[in-house]
Amino acid sequence: MAGGVTGGDSATWSDRFEQGLHPVIERFNASIGFDIRLLQEDLDGSIAHARMLAECGVIQVEEADQLVSGLEQVRQEAASGEFQPGLADEDVHFAVERRLIALLGPVGKKLHTGRSRNDQVGTDLRLWLRRRLDELEQYLLGFQRALLDQANLHSNTLIPGYTHLQRAQPLCLAHHLLAYVEMVERDRQRMADLRKRLNLSPLGAAALAGTPVPIDRRSTAMALGFDGIYANSLDAVSDRDFTVEFSAAASLVMVHLSRLAEEVIFWASEECGFVRLTDRCATGSSLMPQKKNPDVPELVRGKCGRVFGHLQGLLTMIKGLPLAYNKDFQEDKEALFDVVATTSQCLEAMTILLQEGLSFRTERLEAAVAADYSNATDVADYLVAKQVPFREAYQLVGAVVKHCLQEGVLLRELTLERWQKFHPAIEADLFEALTPRNVVAARTSEGGTGFDRVHEQLAIWNKRLGLADQVV
Ligand code: ARG
Repeated sequence: MAGGVTGGDSATWSDRFEQGLHPVIERFNASIGFDIRLLQEDLDGSIAHARMLAECGVIQVEEADQLVSGLEQVRQEAASGEFQPGLADEDVHFAVERRLIALLGPVGKKLHTGRSRNDQVGTDLRLWLRRRLDELEQYLLGFQRALLDQANLHSNTLIPGYTHLQRAQPLCLAHHLLAYVEMVERDRQRMADLRKRLNLSPLGAAALAGTPVPIDRRSTAMALGFDGIYANSLDAVSDRDFTVEFSAAASLVMVHLSRLAEEVIFWASEECGFVRLTDRCATGSSLMPQKKNPDVPELVRGKCGRVFGHLQGLLTMIKGLPLAYNKDFQEDKEALFDVVATTSQCLEAMTILLQEGLSFRTERLEAAVAADYSNATDVADYLVAKQVPFREAYQLVGAVVKHCLQEGVLLRELTLERWQKFHPAIEADLFEALTPRNVVAARTSEGGTGFDRVHEQLAIWNKRLGLADQVV
């Protein structure tokens, strides 16, 4: 039967095929169910390709015009819901080509000159991810700004600092939040960096070896906003490094989000009580009327599994693949789509949580830092200033803390006489030095939590992220 096996005139395969696909295999093989999401990019790539073919004299200018208007018509049909490809179309690339041939007749059959679905799919996927990276940058920036807004509100608020989840030293809350601002900055840099390697055009590599058709790869690359072209046609159609690089960078975004999520869950617990969740982002229990649950940060923490899993899946899918294109690559799409969707949603949700989902209970925080031994290092530092060697001071303060624990008192509750029995160099000014606010203020080393240092950092970040200087 001339015209192939799967659809009369609009056949997919060459006449070498005699039998149609088994229906189960047809379903198994098809990617149209998910790669339809590449439709806009597929149309963009095809339009650039058609114009280039005319530029190079491979087809007539009028033919290119027809192809372009046919492709634009497919775009409109998709917008109005008329374009409804089915399983028989296999994938988005075939679906578009078929519709074009149905619309234009023989001219439509000229579009695929000098290209293959192998370079086509690589082009579409890069264009798609490039757009998503631009959106993701906005989500990251929004999240970073929400962190900075909270930091600006709390430039004078104290919070216990932990190591091993044991009270360590008091902190300025803004300093704690700015640590996340730094993490997000690295995330933004990583995304910007991988975008450079992603932004090369594989189009024109054809199936694997290039083409005898006198095409101009640089013309399509430029039309599509790529920074350059892949130098090697085999590499062009086989490279999926960008899917791994992106998923790894997204995994780190999720790691950062999950760390903040975990802290919020801890802070919102009754045991801790450092934040109050507002009704906007918390849910109740179907059974226990008193409950208010931190579902948003819990979901963010839980969704890490999907993103890390996709990273692992992509690495495993690519490993050991011989050059050049292999159908295994079709598996990259759902993973990439889900990594983008999950990471974007989590960033959005955590941004809203910071903006209107929680408030810090400053009185509770103030009380918490006043009622622990997290100023113990400061006694040692006080003695160091009096020329006592640090190690000796450290041992001595250990003995003081032991004594206080036995007596059930805090360091500042010891009398001066008692202190002087521990060390004669201790004077009344120790008590001032031990207040949580002074403990924090004293940490003036660069990058430390001292209020002056934190205010400097807030000013730098406010300028960098375009927020007015609103430090309180
Ligand atoms: N649907 C395919 C994919 O996602 C398109 C490329 C198919 N190329 C091929 N030679 N079978 O990778």
